[in-house]
Amino acid sequence: MQHIIRELEKKRERARLGGGQKRIDAQHGKGKLTARERIELLLDDDSFEEWDMFVEHDSADFGMEKNKIPGDGVVTGYGTVNGRLVFVFSQDFTVFGGSLSAAHARKICKIMDQAMQVGAPVVGLNDSGGARIQEGVASLAGYADVFQRNVMASGVIPQISLIMGPCAGGAVYSPAMTDFIFMVKDTSYMFVTGPDVVKTVTHEEVTHEELGGAETHSSVSGVSDLACENDIEALIELRRFIDFLPASNREAPPVRPTEDPADRAEISLDTLVPMHPNQPYDMKELITKVVDEGDFFEVAPDFAGNIITGFARMEGSTIGVVANQPTVLAGCLDIDSARKAARFVRFCDCFNIPILTFVDVPGFLPGTQQEYGGIIKHGAKLLYAYAEATVPKVTVITRKAYGGAYDVMASKHLRGDVNYAWPTAEIAVMGPKGAVEIIFRADIGDTEKIEARTEEYRQKFANPFVAGSLGFIDDVIMPRNTRKRLCRALAMLKDKELENPWKKHGNIPL
Ligand code: HXC
Repeated sequence: MQHIIRELEKKRERARLGGGQKRIDAQHGKGKLTARERIELLLDDDSFEEWDMFVEHDSADFGMEKNKIPGDGVVTGYGTVNGRLVFVFSQDFTVFGGSLSAAHARKICKIMDQAMQVGAPVVGLNDSGGARIQEGVASLAGYADVFQRNVMASGVIPQISLIMGPCAGGAVYSPAMTDFIFMVKDTSYMFVTGPDVVKTVTHEEVTHEELGGAETHSSVSGVSDLACENDIEALIELRRFIDFLPASNREAPPVRPTEDPADRAEISLDTLVPMHPNQPYDMKELITKVVDEGDFFEVAPDFAGNIITGFARMEGSTIGVVANQPTVLAGCLDIDSARKAARFVRFCDCFNIPILTFVDVPGFLPGTQQEYGGIIKHGAKLLYAYAEATVPKVTVITRKAYGGAYDVMASKHLRGDVNYAWPTAEIAVMGPKGAVEIIFRADIGDTEKIEARTEEYRQKFANPFVAGSLGFIDDVIMPRNTRKRLCRALAMLKDKELENPWKKHGNIPL
């Protein structure tokens, strides 16, 4: 018996060593952790249950039959994050560059299938040279098997990708189909074709980092939701992030005890909105002053800053926050912000997370760039997302809510459950100046008349009471009481039931 146990230990040790000490040192030399070190940091101590440690590839070409490493370049299994079940795969760059073979793909598929059956998130730690070149189409088939599962799991369990090394070619499409992507600065990149191909085809000279690094994707393309300084920060942030998420679409969002009183008044909010309508203020101040303990996990903070998205808690329960940000583009909706917020709203709706919307929106951003880029279709995404969402929707208009953007931002008309306005709200077709220049065009040039008309329009429409008189606003609330009123609204909506008509699926404008 002893020798069998020794044999098992030897085999485990061999598997744990992956591609060997030299390659582990090289991995560390690049500032990266190994696949196993990453799992150790992600999961609670001693919670990891590894599967398929002894799986090997079945390729016999190019001498591969003599080159087998147990685990085949990916460590898979399950464990807990702050006590909650999570499935994980972590690609091991020290083994064939973390490249994906048929066996490697089968390991990933196995944990994805199990995660869907038990209802728990899948976290993918990606660090791979892509398709295992020696395996050819068998590797491509493996990718497709993962892609298919990504789609089947979408909306059933949260899927989160950390990009912690190379991720190129078709391999980018698995993370792309997951719900959130975090990247690590300087050591990770994602692109469909690398700098060499780019140079050949378009003659552009661009570095890996410029083309597909963490900062590029977190601020320019919006592919990534967070750029982290290093592996450790990424894994710590991921642990914090998972705490906000329900384990599956069968669950209510998690609840964490809080000491923050639901009726906490915040007097400083009474003066948050400046007197002058064109003066910006930081919407994040409102968010952090209203939510439990000021704890807000912002998603995509560096992309489309004119809209804020992220998770927080109210009375301990997770909520999704969407808010216009007056400090960026005056809070206008544009292509990027509409895409960003639409995807976020849909995630919340998939996973039973109530949506809290703070509105200060002067309208859609004008211009040829926006029109040629398809703002019509992209703006419609956000409209569609809010309109189809059946989770509790609570909205507060702090200042401007003009035109189509008023309708879009979780208005009463899109089945907003509770719609509040601050006394500073201005709800109208457009701002006073623009409105007067259209309806009193004949008076343009007569400054006195225009000013009088503008003031008249402002008095009449730049307030919440017209909408209030029509029942489109449920109440005009004191800013200082926002937290209390929102907590009550969310508590009232806890058992909300609403179903959309049966359909195979809708046809969101893509
Ligand atoms: C097999 C691979 C590999 C791959 C790397 N390796 N990529 N083995 N298949 N795809 C091996 C290397 O041979 C090397 O083995 C070890 O991994 C480390 O690679 P290095 O090149 O030494 O590392 P580095 O200098 O850091 O460069 C990393 C890299 C480079 C940029 C990822 O390895 C690279 O360009 N690899 C090929 C990428 C690629 O073209 N993949 C296919 C893309 S197409 P040793 O034994 O020397 O340590 C694709 C399609 C997916 O992925 C389609 C899905 C639908």
